[in-house]
Amino acid sequence: MGRTSLTRRLTLLFVVASSAVLLALGFVIAGSVEKHFEQQDLDILKRQMELARHSLEKVELPGKPEHITHVLDDAMVGQHGPEVLVLGQDRKPILATPNAGFPLDLVVSAALHSPGVPAQWTVGQEPYRGIAAEVPLGPPSGTGKRELVIVAVAIGVAHHHDFMRSFLQTLWIFVVCAAALTGLLGWVAASRGLAPLRSMREQAQVVTSEQLSRRLQVEFVPVELAELAQSLNAMLARLEEAFHRLADFSSEIAHELRTPVSNLLTQTQVALSRSRTADEYRGILESNAEEFEYMARMISDMLLLAKAGNGLVPPKRQVFELEAEIRGLFDYFGAVAEDKRLGLVLEGAGEVSADRSLLRRALANLLSNAIRHSAANTTVRVTIQDQRDRVSICIENTGDTIPPQYLERVFERFFRVDPSRHRDSDGTGLGLAITRSIVVAHGGSIAAASDAGVTRFTMTLPRSA
Ligand SMILES: Nc1ncnc2c1ncn2[C@@H]1O[C@H](COP(=O)(O)OP(=O)(O)OP(=O)(O)O)[C@@H](O)[C@H]1O
Ligand SMILES: [Mg+2]
Repeated sequence: MGRTSLTRRLTLLFVVASSAVLLALGFVIAGSVEKHFEQQDLDILKRQMELARHSLEKVELPGKPEHITHVLDDAMVGQHGPEVLVLGQDRKPILATPNAGFPLDLVVSAALHSPGVPAQWTVGQEPYRGIAAEVPLGPPSGTGKRELVIVAVAIGVAHHHDFMRSFLQTLWIFVVCAAALTGLLGWVAASRGLAPLRSMREQAQVVTSEQLSRRLQVEFVPVELAELAQSLNAMLARLEEAFHRLADFSSEIAHELRTPVSNLLTQTQVALSRSRTADEYRGILESNAEEFEYMARMISDMLLLAKAGNGLVPPKRQVFELEAEIRGLFDYFGAVAEDKRLGLVLEGAGEVSADRSLLRRALANLLSNAIRHSAANTTVRVTIQDQRDRVSICIENTGDTIPPQYLERVFERFFRVDPSRHRDSDGTGLGLAITRSIVVAHGGSIAAASDAGVTRFTMTLPRSA
């Protein structure tokens, strides 16, 4: 069934369902007709049996066979139809109508074991339905002991069988025709009903990488498909966004690399324009090395970001004290902070389950930003807050204010609040993007707040994975 078309499935379903219903109905009707026939036959048979019983009561004892024949003949005269068989005590037929050649042992056992219960006998090819019973001979007497004879009455049921046979035949023909018809109708209904699906497919076919902004028209699809269309549209939206992000990223990379490469090129061309002293060459190479360093850092940052964006940096979690980690970073940034006469303060303590080197990198990015953007003689304050199921780390500095409209954008790749500054401040604009992807990979979140010179970055990490 894996690849069967929906139309075919629905058609098949229609056919099976309608045939099943019609067949069930047919069998119910056939059953009740049959029952009706049986009841009708039984009524006739019982009446005949009563008649025979009454007549046999009138036989004068001792009952001579000729006499019994005479009595019964009288009683049954004009009774058209039923065949009658009377067996004497010696189980020999005393009386038998022309077609009453019933199997004697069947008749006897029916009379002895199930008197009055209809049974089927066949005489030659003819089916008969009949009842048999023991009937007393002669009028009731005081002694209570009377001679018993076996009486069997039966009527032919061939015409009933013929009727049932032709009824079932008609039923089958009807079911086959009806199945074919409902199959056809089902096919028409299914293929018309599935038309919206085809139109959706046609709409989806025109979506290409150049036309990612196209969407399926949800308002024209039936309600059952609306959800599917909405999901597909949402998927298209995500694809479009990712696609644009990728396209932007490539153009940003090209743009960012252009400056250092053209710097290197100019410097090298100028250096080559005439012969230089060894010291001059050394100076030029040193300056080139700086550019190379900058480019190398940017490339490795971008690599990390690309991997994190694709979920390729699964954190190798371990539980450790944040305090020691941050003290270590204070030592690392100590010299720069001292140059600006900054105070580095740590408040609070807490444990966290995280990838140690990734988290160090995230914190180092925040701290280096805080130190870089601090005004001289201020304090950079790191606060750890250990809440029940998460830990938050807040890094606060006083200096440049980030305008409110940029508070979200600082986490974007290559975004700098003051682009003109970026070369001399050495930033690639990737630091916060990396920090955020590390925090997100840990299942946490990060937000920035900045007001009146006080800038605060707060990251929140879940305590456990
Ligand atoms: N503490 C802060 N105070 C004021 N502005 C900040 C602060 N931290 C970040 N910013 C702004 O956000 C921008 C983006 O920061 P981000 O760390 O992503 O890049 P960067 O520091 O310029 O470069 P990189 O970190 O790659 O060396 C910075 O250029 C700066 O304008
Ligand atoms: Mg930075």
